Amino acid sequence: LSRCINDIYSSPPDSNTRISLQGWVSGARISKNVAFVDIFDGTTHDNVKCVIKPPSLLPNTVKTGSSIEVDGIWTEGRGKQKYEVQVDNTKDPAAKLRVVGEVDDLYPLLKKRHTDQYLRTIPEYRWRAADAASILRFRSKVETSLVNFFDQHSFTKTHPPIMTSSDCEGAGEMFKVESSTKLGNNQTFFGKETYLTVSTQLHLEVLCAALSRVWTLTPCFRAEESDTNRHLSEFWMLEAEMAFVDKVDQLTKFSEMMIKDVVQKLVSDTDGMGSNLLESATKDHAEAMRKRWELLLQQDNWASITYTEAIKILIDAYERGQASFQYIPKWGESLRSEHEKWLAGEHFRNPVFVTDYPLEEKAFYMKVNDDDSTPAPTVGCYDLLVPDIGELIGGSLREHEFEKLSTEIRRRKMNAEPLEWYLAQRRNGTFPHGGFGMGFERLLQYLTCTENIKDVIAFPRTVNNCLC
Ligand code: 4AD
Ligand code: MG
Repeated sequence: LSRCINDIYSSPPDSNTRISLQGWVSGARISKNVAFVDIFDGTTHDNVKCVIKPPSLLPNTVKTGSSIEVDGIWTEGRGKQKYEVQVDNTKDPAAKLRVVGEVDDLYPLLKKRHTDQYLRTIPEYRWRAADAASILRFRSKVETSLVNFFDQHSFTKTHPPIMTSSDCEGAGEMFKVESSTKLGNNQTFFGKETYLTVSTQLHLEVLCAALSRVWTLTPCFRAEESDTNRHLSEFWMLEAEMAFVDKVDQLTKFSEMMIKDVVQKLVSDTDGMGSNLLESATKDHAEAMRKRWELLLQQDNWASITYTEAIKILIDAYERGQASFQYIPKWGESLRSEHEKWLAGEHFRNPVFVTDYPLEEKAFYMKVNDDDSTPAPTVGCYDLLVPDIGELIGGSLREHEFEKLSTEIRRRKMNAEPLEWYLAQRRNGTFPHGGFGMGFERLLQYLTCTENIKDVIAFPRTVNNCLC
C-alpha cells in the first residue's frame, strides 16, 4: 500500500523529500501564478494542501470530489498549514498531477459544509463529505476501545446468530425471514417460523454457561413503527452476559466502568479518538462534546434510583409545576421517553440508573425481587438513562431457577415451545447470572451530541426508509 494521509501525518516525512499522494479533491483554487488543491482520503480529518505551479498544470477536470494522484515535494507549510506539497513543474520536472476519476456536473457535494438532513438524501455520497466521515472513524475507534476493554476484563467476544426462532423480548416486533428458494411440499426453509433477532441475549446466556463472561456487538432488528430521533429498525447492540452475578449493582457498576473507559480514552485522545471529532465539528458542537465528556468523568458514581423512587420524583416535579409532561407518570406504567429525558437531562443532568421496574413492564426472563413494599412485584433490572436520549442500556438479573422461569412463561401465556432449549438449561448446572444490552448508535449519539440517531450509522433503516 502507498502511504495514506493518516500515516503521513502520524510520522511526517523529512522536509524536501519526494512524496506521492492519492485521494479526492475537497477544494481547488486557481490564481494568476499558482493553484491550490486540497486532497483528503478519509483516513483522517486532515487534508493535504498541494501548491501547483504553474497553475496551468491543474487540469480543468479537477473539481470537488474528483480523485487525483500527485507527485511532489513535501515541505514545511506557510501560515496555518503545517505542511504542504509543492507540485512545481517550473523547478521539478517530475512534479505531476493526474486526474484518476472525474466528477459529472450532477455531483451533489460542494466544498461547503452540508446539513445532515441534506446528506441523508444522498446515501451513496454522504460519507464523502469530509466532516460527516469523522463519525464513521469515531465509530470504528469506539468499537476498538470496547474490544480492548472487554478483553482486559476476561470476556470472550462471541458471535451469536442473527436468524432465530425465538422472540427474546416478547414484544412481537420482529422481521420475518423468508427464503426465495422454492422448497418441495411448500415447506418453509427452516421448517419453522424464523425471524431476524431483536436481541441475542438468549443465545448469549447459553455461551455464558460455557465461557462465564461473554459479549457481542451484533446487528439487531426491530419492526417498531415509531420514527423518532433515537430509533432504528436495524441497529447494533452491544450485549454482555456475566456468570455468578446476583446483584443489580454489580451490573450497573460494570456498565458505568465500561462507558467511563471509552470516555477516558476520548478525553486523553488515545489514538486520536477525541481530536478527530473535535476538529471536524463546529466550535459550539466541539464545546458541547467536551463538556459532556468532562461531566461524565467528574461524577464518581452516577446516581442510581429505583423505579418507585423515579415515579415519586416525576410526580412530585409534575405536581410542583417543575416539569410538564404529556403523560402523567403512574406506578405500574413504563417510563415514557419524556420522563426518561427529564430525569437524566433536567433532574440529574448526567446518566442515572433506574432499577427494579414492575414485573409486568419487563420481559419474561428477568429475576423477580423478594420485595413486598411495592404495589406489585418488581424485577432485578435496570435502565441507564442519559440526557437528550433517555434509555441507553437495558439489563437485568436473569431468572435461573427452572420452576420460577417455567411458571412465569406459563403465566404470561407465552408459546413455550420455541423456548424449550432456553428453559432446559436451568435444569443443568444453572447459576445466577445477568447482563445488559446497549444500543451502540445511542452511545455514539450521546458521546457526539448528535441530534438524530440516523447520523451515526452509515445506512440508516427506519420505517419507510431503506434507501440504497
Ligand atoms: O432494552 P432492550 O430492548 O433490551 C434487550 O433487548 C435485552 N435483551 C438486552 C440484554 O439484556 N442483553 O434493548 C437494549 C438497548 C436499549 O437500551 C437501546 O439502547 C437499544 O438497545 N435499542 C435501540 N437502539 C436503536 N434503535 C432501536 N429501535 C432500539 N431498540 C433498543
Ligand atoms: Mg429496554
